[in-house]
Amino acid sequence: MPRSDSAILGTPLSRAAVRVMLLGAGELGKEVLIALQRLGVETIAVDRYANAPGQQVAHHARTIAMDDPAQLRALIEVEKPDIVVPEIEAIATPVLEQLEAAGAVRVIPTARAARLTMDREGIRRLAAEALGLPTSPYQFCDSLAELRNAIDGGIGYPCIVKPVMSSSGKGQSKIDGPADVKKAWDHAIAGGRVNHGRIIVEGFIDFDYEITLLTVRARNASGEIETRFCAPIGHVQDAGDCVESWQPHAMSSRALARAQEVAKKVADDLGGLGVFGVELFVKGDEVWFSEVSPRPHDTGMVTMISQWQSEFELHARAILGLPVSTQLKSPGASAVVYGGVEGKALAFDGVAEALAVPNSDLRLFGKPESFVKRRMGVALAFAEDVETARRNAKLAAGKVKPRQA
Ligand SMILES: Nc1ncnc2c1ncn2[C@@H]1O[C@H](COP(=O)(O)OP(=O)(O)OP(=O)(O)O)[C@@H](O)[C@H]1O
Ligand SMILES: [Mg+2]
Repeated sequence: MPRSDSAILGTPLSRAAVRVMLLGAGELGKEVLIALQRLGVETIAVDRYANAPGQQVAHHARTIAMDDPAQLRALIEVEKPDIVVPEIEAIATPVLEQLEAAGAVRVIPTARAARLTMDREGIRRLAAEALGLPTSPYQFCDSLAELRNAIDGGIGYPCIVKPVMSSSGKGQSKIDGPADVKKAWDHAIAGGRVNHGRIIVEGFIDFDYEITLLTVRARNASGEIETRFCAPIGHVQDAGDCVESWQPHAMSSRALARAQEVAKKVADDLGGLGVFGVELFVKGDEVWFSEVSPRPHDTGMVTMISQWQSEFELHARAILGLPVSTQLKSPGASAVVYGGVEGKALAFDGVAEALAVPNSDLRLFGKPESFVKRRMGVALAFAEDVETARRNAKLAAGKVKPRQA
């Protein structure tokens, strides 16, 4: 039987329902949930706080600590989803591995992929040591003394220190010389998600540009799994947070071929079905693997306007065993709308002005609470060329003015 059972779709809230549980229901999860809803899938949105964006569009909303093994296991055992889709990193992944091994659920893309990408160590060792992909030079350290030794012993300056468990640039800093080392260590220890006191130090890659290569493992019309690529996405990071992205990013054909080769190796090794956001650094025709999310990527929000099937629709289709198209529709861009203020129940002025920008669109995520640097929405634009799309996406984003209601 070449096709997965779940390629048979059903009716939500009935005994014929296909039930999908999203672990993490932020802005990316919300779009995956909407895509699943459109295919008549029954959805369960799980997050650590109530009224998370995805919980507002799912059939069922559940609020638990997903990094607590007992809570996670209990919820999956009660809800009995056909498919579990991790949307964040901080999940008790051993529980997923046990339930997958017992045949109780299918985990997207695989429970092993969720475990390996949960922290920087699993995925870096897989990519560099097991698969032999080019990466920055790196070392893992458990103390300030080890960090100093690693730098002096070969990593050199400049270098970057990151907590092993963190995302969105938290706890990350660049070291230009010996005077910065202690500060970087302290910053990493304070910024890690779990205070394991373990960091990675990476040699600084002086790249020309960085891309996200969205890579999709999906079944084709004959039921075989194929690995396909979206057009490369360029992005600007501010302190590890994606502020702006665009698609396609111009690349030499040799660099693109190399990027696809690297992305295919890592996605195929992680296996299963779904979207992978492969982050790569490029200099000339040379490509380095940086990291991968076995799920839609924040830089890929642009695909909501630049592709026929957004990364969220691609993920939904792929995990259901359906065929996909990664074709570009138009050059496009995305620009983040930050909260700008702290508080609950924000109002958004300027939405009409934003949408009056030519060929623009907007997503307001519906987050119940805002922080100055919390992503509350994203503006999108398409155009004949990437430059115009970027300009218009930024223009539209700038028109939106969040304020205390
Ligand atoms: N070794 C490196 N050399 C040069 N720049 C780097 C290096 N590592 C990271 N960066 C820069 O810092 C950014 C964030 O790094 P990384 O993706 O590892 O962190 P993150 O916390 O996972 O961020 P995110 O969650 O936004 O992906 C990269 O996109 C890149 O711009
Ligand atoms: Mg990253």
